[in-house]
Amino acid sequence: MRIDKLLANRGYGSRKEVKKLLKSGVVKVNGETIKDASAHFKPDEDTVTIHGETIEYKEFIYLMLNKPPGVISATEDNMHETVIDLLEVDDALFNPFPVGRLDKDTEGLLLITNDGGLSHQLLSPKKHVPKTYFAVIEGEVTEEDITAFKEGVVLDDGYKTMPAELVILKQGLTSDIEVTIMEGKFHQVKRMFEAVGKRVIYLKRLSMGELHLDETLELGEYRELTDEELSLLKKH
Ligand code: URA
Repeated sequence: MRIDKLLANRGYGSRKEVKKLLKSGVVKVNGETIKDASAHFKPDEDTVTIHGETIEYKEFIYLMLNKPPGVISATEDNMHETVIDLLEVDDALFNPFPVGRLDKDTEGLLLITNDGGLSHQLLSPKKHVPKTYFAVIEGEVTEEDITAFKEGVVLDDGYKTMPAELVILKQGLTSDIEVTIMEGKFHQVKRMFEAVGKRVIYLKRLSMGELHLDETLELGEYRELTDEELSLLKKH
């Protein structure tokens, strides 16, 4: 990999600025000063330092965000704040994107990465990666709803969903539930409840595959995945 590309990727300025930086002699590869912007280094073997500080090279970044409401799951938007706007500059430099979408008003687990391969695996309709949500529903969720979800419900566009697992946590004028779906159709959870004549008034994603929301993250906070979380996700 070219040394100027590494420095530009890690936020040390434009290619032109990076060239200047190299000329000033502060960049070393394995202790040897490198001034040539087109010089290459081996990401797995060589140590690159700038002003004596090691620059970590990594290709991919994997972030778990506790998505707050009011923010959209996109990389750019002219009108609204996006989940990428919540990231620190050092993380945004990796050009990550959200893996799938949560509605603007939905909260909870959102994976943000620049690993297109992993994203593709997790979103592939063939893989049936389970996603679990907590929701508050207007009205009383019943045993009949559990049965209907188990069999799959017909959405407003005529699509019959795959079986979904519905667990009632609290029954009453409003009901607390957990639902696990194996697909990711547009507004799926809300539309499944509409199909049984009910309305979702609060929705939060708890898990995606083996990845569970870290409940110590406040809304809007995020952290990198641990190696263990990443290897569990990659099993899909
Ligand atoms: N289902 C929905 O209806 N909305 C979401 O944000 C996620 C799943």
